[in-house]
Amino acid sequence: MFDTMTMTKTIGALCGSLLVFLLVGWAADGLYSTGGGHGEGAEQSYVIDTGAGEATETEAEEVVDVAAVLAAGDAAAGEKVFAKCKACHKVDGNDGTGPHLNGVVNRAKASSAGFGYSDALAAMSGDTWTPENLYAFLENPKGYAPGNKMSFAGLPKSEDRANLIAWLATQN
Ligand code: HEC
Repeated sequence: MFDTMTMTKTIGALCGSLLVFLLVGWAADGLYSTGGGHGEGAEQSYVIDTGAGEATETEAEEVVDVAAVLAAGDAAAGEKVFAKCKACHKVDGNDGTGPHLNGVVNRAKASSAGFGYSDALAAMSGDTWTPENLYAFLENPKGYAPGNKMSFAGLPKSEDRANLIAWLATQN
């Protein structure tokens, strides 16, 4: 009889404690999730710092020494890259689908006399195909001269462009 009372009291006390813990737990959860909301807000203010870090990376990417990349160009390797241009361009002075490319390095833009250039390229005729200009044009022909009619996606690898320009410079 006595034992049963003790058991009942003990179990009752335990149940009471558990209930209190549960309630305290829920209350704490509620407090923490509200606090979490503020925490997210605080994290966002740190994202601004990260943005500054990315800006620094972008600046680093812009500092490509084009002259050095071009100087490292390997003409022999560039001749292989020209295989991608051959369908439209010749280097024997004759125009094909595209204007002849012998002598193109440091030639005035859109200056092959008999070739019918697009308005987009003809509008650039006061400018010159310096190695730097060719390097930029060949990366993204459509972006460099919007509306031009050269159907070529571009050479994404800077090494390919440097090698090709080195080879073109040997074709006069
Ligand atoms: C599908 C045909 C085609 C391919 C492939 C092609 N081109 Fe062209 N390219 C043209 C045409 C057409 C033009 C004239 C564009 C215009 O008038 O808008 C041109 C223009 C040019 C010009 C300007 C020349 C000038 O006299 O102003 C250069 C430089 C040039 N291409 C280089 C290249 C190189 C290098 C490659 C290979 C990586 C290449 N092209 C691949 C068709 C092509």
